[in-house]
Amino acid sequence: MHIIERKVSSISSYKKMSFYILIFLIICCCCFRYIELQKHRQPLLWSDDDRHFNETLTAIMRPRVVGSVGHKEVRHFIANELKELGFHVETDEFSQIVPVLGNLTFVNLLGIINPEASDFLALACHYDSKYFPDIPNFIGATDSAVPCATLLNTAKTLNSYLLTDFKNRQDLGLMLIFFDGEEAFLSWSKADSIYGSKHLARKLSISPDDFTKRHIDRIEVLILLDLLGTASQKFYSFYQNTDTLLEELSNIERNLMKSRQLEGHNYMFFSRRIQNMIEDDHLPFLDEDVPILHLIPVPFPKYWHTAKDDADSLHWPTIRNFNKIFRIFIYEYMKNHKENVNFRLM
Ligand SMILES: *[C@@H]1O[C@H](CO)[C@@H](O)[C@H](O)[C@H]1NC(C)=O
Ligand SMILES: *[C@@H]1O[C@H](CO)[C@@H](O)[C@H](O)[C@H]1NC(C)=O
Repeated sequence: MHIIERKVSSISSYKKMSFYILIFLIICCCCFRYIELQKHRQPLLWSDDDRHFNETLTAIMRPRVVGSVGHKEVRHFIANELKELGFHVETDEFSQIVPVLGNLTFVNLLGIINPEASDFLALACHYDSKYFPDIPNFIGATDSAVPCATLLNTAKTLNSYLLTDFKNRQDLGLMLIFFDGEEAFLSWSKADSIYGSKHLARKLSISPDDFTKRHIDRIEVLILLDLLGTASQKFYSFYQNTDTLLEELSNIERNLMKSRQLEGHNYMFFSRRIQNMIEDDHLPFLDEDVPILHLIPVPFPKYWHTAKDDADSLHWPTIRNFNKIFRIFIYEYMKNHKENVNFRLM
């Protein structure tokens, strides 16, 4: 009887001791985790400018079918923004007869920093919205108002770098391309789609003379943004020669997530390669051997090409996270650029 009692009491003191050790270990873990977090959480070099993003998106997110008043006003808005941000602005204008709407004038917009540089980082999106006879108010929030606003917001938030340290670099320029006429007017085909990018790729492919590089060969990589802004968007690599770029986006995302600089817990960049059968503005450039990074979610947003691709379909934490990751990615690309980078050989 007595012996049993002693046993019980020694077990209970052993339990107490383990309890205190456990508490101690938990406190140690918390401290360690806190120190780790502080180590990761350096203030970000570039701050968000959500107000600018919102204002830009509001100006672009309206019906803008090629040839309409909205189209012309959005084009003027983008061109003015680019000028205000210190970009050299060029237009590539042409007329073409298209199904349903007939003779239309298309205008690709280009904003360039360091036009004399030997190579370019090109970032692109399309600014036209799709013509639907039965949805006159289609505004294409993800397609591609958000991508256009993201490009302008990237330029805005990195502006102090672009206009000082980056300015006048010989090895690298930045080119923002706003393609016109990506959408089909009747039904998607080789002929009825990507009017602007076909025209621009053709124009940049003309050899100036026998000794000068073609303009299109000066594009080091074309990064095309499309269908951005809905919850749980997921991006994969489509081309072997730019796998490393998706890997970098994924690394930046992971570091920001670890240091709690992102909203929510969803990852969107996956450095896995998947088969690309998506036809988009990059194709005429791919045909000319331009390395491509195509940032389009797989699967497409649920409301793609429906009346519901509007402001209500957008997920703001995802948009803010994308902008933050993309901005750092672009900055690091420019800052760490080496003269001999050549994705064409990879
Ligand atoms: C931008 O717009 C979103 C959606 O309307 C809103 O949640 C957010 O607070 C706005 N941000 C700023 C800085 O105005
Ligand atoms: C299409 O419109 C443009 C501009 O208005 C004009 O210059 C061109 O001649 C027209 N083309 C055809 C085939 O009618």
